[in-house]
Amino acid sequence: MPTTVLTGISELWTLDPALDAAPGEPGRHGAAEGQVLREAALVIEDGRVAWTGPASAAPAADEYHDLGGRAVLPGWVDSHTHLVFAGDRSAEFEARMAGQDYAAGGIAVTTAATRAAPDAELRALVRARIAEARAGGTTTLETKTGYGLTVAEETRAAALAAGLVNAGELDEVTFLGAHVVPAEAEHAEAYVDLVVGEMLTAVAEHARWIDVFCERGAFTREQSARVLRAGRDAGLGLRVHGNQLGPEHEGVALAVEHGAASVDHVNHLGPADLEALAATAARPVRAAGEGLLDVHAGPTVATVLPACDLSTRAPLAPARDLLDAGAELAIASNANPGTSNTSSMAFCVATAVLQMRLSLAEAVRAATRGGALALRRSDVGHLAVGARADLHVLDAPAAIHLAYRPGMPLTHQVWRAGVRAV
Ligand code: NIG
Repeated sequence: MPTTVLTGISELWTLDPALDAAPGEPGRHGAAEGQVLREAALVIEDGRVAWTGPASAAPAADEYHDLGGRAVLPGWVDSHTHLVFAGDRSAEFEARMAGQDYAAGGIAVTTAATRAAPDAELRALVRARIAEARAGGTTTLETKTGYGLTVAEETRAAALAAGLVNAGELDEVTFLGAHVVPAEAEHAEAYVDLVVGEMLTAVAEHARWIDVFCERGAFTREQSARVLRAGRDAGLGLRVHGNQLGPEHEGVALAVEHGAASVDHVNHLGPADLEALAATAARPVRAAGEGLLDVHAGPTVATVLPACDLSTRAPLAPARDLLDAGAELAIASNANPGTSNTSSMAFCVATAVLQMRLSLAEAVRAATRGGALALRRSDVGHLAVGARADLHVLDAPAAIHLAYRPGMPLTHQVWRAGVRAV
């Protein structure tokens, strides 16, 4: 196999899991000793990282690329998006910026547009969104269904996404039939029956995950628990949209109780939520094959969605408190037409630093290793030897520029599985 060596790396963020700090030690939630190399080189072989170390010790290779003194991070791992949709909700956004509150009901508008889109159009839309994310340094992408809400439409969305996983464009598919109760449903319970019955049976083969929007205007805690139980029985890993609009539906408690891999949004948390999430950090992960971890073991990661918080004018999720309590943290874009119409992880990372009081290292880790843990992936989110060679080369000498120069085009190159993608 030909080898490629990248030199001229001013900062190489390997975030090597083998060098993680123990709880309570410096760098535990950011970069620990040895996880960022200076004046470094990296060797790619067969799509994987084959060697990292000081540039002066780089081995001979078949191809050489001098990155000219730039910083290299693992590609972003975006663990929460809703890419399978058609239509536009900029008018709803504009009204919100003029003072209207966000409500789950807007999902119906996108559902109507998505149902009306022919397969080829929907696929082209999703592929364009993937390309946009890739251009910003995202190399691992999850997407949810959730704008179909019938057996046929949810299956169509999941199959489309699974096809893109097989084509090596996407990474993870989540079934979100329980996004909202569609207008044509007789009542919520009847719709939950459909989701946990015929719909789950049809969609399960296309997805690795199931998710539920446990929130006012969507599903109650009991309804959400039914969805999670059925998903687990079907062999899917669990994810929860929780505590976004308020605490009363107890999405965090539900996620922790059911061993969900991730609970996302988490804007409204009390001390008991922080404690419960932190307690799951001690749950050990289990390997489950090449690059994968068991979806039913390990912590419930708290996934914060800074762009969504800004776009809905919600209280920012308490990322600082979550880390201080000892919880595992991920940052994701929540790209979707209603609450967060951006896949820019760089924007999310900058916001986490500038507004949520994370250090740059904490934010970078949450947007790489954190996302990988939330997706139970061991092959991405870091650049240790053996990892998928997913690299984000910044047009900057140091990663702090992500927050120091927010909004600037800092993505210089993107490599995915050892191949230049951007
Ligand atoms: O993650 N919270 C639920 N689902 C999406 C919003 C979807 C929409 O409004 O279209 C979210 O924010």
